Amino acid sequence: MKELLAKQFAQRFATNPVFYASSGRINLIGEHTDYNGGFVFPGAIDKYIMAAINVNGTDKVRVYSADLQESAEFGLQEADAPKEQWARYIFGVCREVIKRGFTVKGFDTVFAGNVPLGAGLSSSAALESCFAYALNDLFNENKIDKFELAKIGQSTEHNYCGVNCGIMDQFASVFGKKNCLMRLDCRSLEYEYFPFDPQGYKLVLVNSKVKHELVDSPYNKRRESCERVAATLGVETLRDATMDMLNAKKADVTEEDYKRAEYVIGEKQRVLDVCDALERGDYETVGRLMYETHYGLSKQYEVSCEELDFLNDIAKESKVTGSRIMGGGFGGCTINLVKDELYDHFVEIAKTRFNEKYGHEPVIIDVVISDGARRCE
Ligand code: GLA
Repeated sequence: MKELLAKQFAQRFATNPVFYASSGRINLIGEHTDYNGGFVFPGAIDKYIMAAINVNGTDKVRVYSADLQESAEFGLQEADAPKEQWARYIFGVCREVIKRGFTVKGFDTVFAGNVPLGAGLSSSAALESCFAYALNDLFNENKIDKFELAKIGQSTEHNYCGVNCGIMDQFASVFGKKNCLMRLDCRSLEYEYFPFDPQGYKLVLVNSKVKHELVDSPYNKRRESCERVAATLGVETLRDATMDMLNAKKADVTEEDYKRAEYVIGEKQRVLDVCDALERGDYETVGRLMYETHYGLSKQYEVSCEELDFLNDIAKESKVTGSRIMGGGFGGCTINLVKDELYDHFVEIAKTRFNEKYGHEPVIIDVVISDGARRCE
């Protein structure tokens, strides 16, 4: 990818760029817990966005997306927002850096990526983190700390892209470390690296190719449900809620909001239980908890879809250790913890049966847990 970007950059801008990259992420467990102040357990993956960048001595940013084969140009003032949706991610990052009192000057860039779009692997967080990291390095002597870089990406989603997301994706993309998952406490922002190398198992993603689009999706509505319940219970976030507290106020919340909160309260504990199980090497328990999460996301939080429930059923029938929908939901992929000896069988069955039912094969994505945001020398 670096060679491709170098070539395209040279054709367009005729100067020597610096290269940066940042990764997509998986999440083993802890879904929709981040904006509730709970725990998440993600890791960065070997699928990333890479950008070639050089300052251009103007007050304009000139961007070329090698994948879309489209260009955009914008200034750095609030009124200069580009009309292209994809360019708003980069514009938003520039604005959020400036709003925090740091520097951004005009630059030229060409970028590309291999994070599948709409699969729930956070291609947008990878894009934001790549540019946040780059602007910090190019213009600010790396004075912005890593959490602030993640928050710059998150604020970009909130203020320029219409998704009221939590911090998980940008955190994972910025902090990712090879062979490690990270447990993040989204309230205190304390985190811990967990080496992840399950002997005898593989992690595999099965992408339904159902388009996942969080902008204008019910994602923001889920968050509002959680905030309503937290307010009713008199707590800041559902992190501080228990099932007893929820049941005591059952009459004061809608049936729908009750289900949403029930899921979040259960999921919060599951992350901790998975971490304990991993420390014991107890993958059966990890897998069982993944299935519980799927059930919760499907029946209580209602962010699954028919195709993903079908993939989850196939996993169960094929005796896969753990399987669940991953990411924000409404499409995308399942994450599966599969014993080595079952892997080929499962992949074959998932492809055949899904194809029979939906007329296309799901895409199998093998992932390697990798480093996050970086300068590529
Ligand atoms: C999306 C959001 C994250 C998180 C997940 C669900 O990926 O960007 O902040 O809420 O959904 O866990």
